[in-house]
Amino acid sequence: MPAHPLLTADPKADYLAHADEIRAAVERVLASGHYILGPEVEAFEREFAGYLGGGQLIGVANGTEAIELALRAVGVQRGDAVATVANTVSATAAAIEQIGARPVFVEIEADTMVMSAVALAAALARGPVKAVVPVHLYGHPTAMPAIMELSRRHGAKVVEDCAQSHGAAVAGKKAGAWGDAAAFSFYPTKNLGALGDGGAVFTRDAGTADAVRLLRQYGWRQRYVSEIPGRNSRLDELQAAILRVKLRHLDAGNAARRLLAARYLALLRDARLRLPEWASDAEPVWHQFVVRTPRRDDLRAHLAARQIHCGVLYPVPLHRQPAYARPQLLLSETERACAEVLCLPVHPAITPADVDRVSEEILRWAKS
Ligand SMILES: Cc1ncc(COP(=O)(O)O)c(C=O)c1O
Repeated sequence: MPAHPLLTADPKADYLAHADEIRAAVERVLASGHYILGPEVEAFEREFAGYLGGGQLIGVANGTEAIELALRAVGVQRGDAVATVANTVSATAAAIEQIGARPVFVEIEADTMVMSAVALAAALARGPVKAVVPVHLYGHPTAMPAIMELSRRHGAKVVEDCAQSHGAAVAGKKAGAWGDAAAFSFYPTKNLGALGDGGAVFTRDAGTADAVRLLRQYGWRQRYVSEIPGRNSRLDELQAAILRVKLRHLDAGNAARRLLAARYLALLRDARLRLPEWASDAEPVWHQFVVRTPRRDDLRAHLAARQIHCGVLYPVPLHRQPAYARPQLLLSETERACAEVLCLPVHPAITPADVDRVSEEILRWAKS
């Protein structure tokens, strides 16, 4: 019998694992007659804010707009410089550019592949930076104590990109709870994923929360009266009800990912690959399990031929993409990471036996 295919993400399996609860939640919304910004959104906002340690959560349409609205709410305007990394999805830069602000790409740490505080210090020293957007890539939190200290010293605001880090923590505090605001995506493949688009801004600052609430719906505080220029970026009731179910399973899902990651780490010790590294005070949530090799494409093809489908997040750094090209900018660690990374299947639908199968194939490849 041919081996069953393994995928880097499997949102359908995640739906099926909680199908009864999700169907009940969807039925509840359908019967309620309330479909936009209603009790489910309010309950989810309260519940996820509580999960993050207390603060305010504002549901929005997707993660990209969460970043954009958070940046606007902390005061970023047209022409401002916003420091971020280049080994991220285009959404991070697109959110900055929607404001007419300018992404300034800073180098990553060679080992953890998240923003380097040393590189950020250099960028902050070079010129005024209005805000910093660290990306907690692959579920590995950035070194937030250092990033916050530097940003505060230079008067820069911090908006954490938490699209891949629901539940991660650093120095005992959740990713998202460090900055002036944080942006979450609930794209279906995320650790906390909806069954459609969704996003949220989290903040502990009442003024920032108020600004995002106005921005997400036409600038309205009072219906039909725009206090500021706003837009439509609403989270709908169906997605919020589904997210409430998924939130109840987030910690269990992250625990399952941790076990799988530990198994990969043990089995792949001698595989001649660079294995994931993280800071001693970081608690990653393994959105991705990322190995590195200069022979990445060869390994990827070897695994794909055996029905093991791996992702590459991300093959081309933003400063080498046509839309964001910076021909003069050299970010050698970022470029090396993008050339070498391979994301192995790691999510709650993957079993320990699947990890054994992937690892065996990798070890076989390593000997070839
Ligand atoms: C790091 C990062 N930032 C931002 C986003 C954008 O989120 P969305 O697709 O919900 O707009 C994503 C998700 O794709 C992401 O992974």
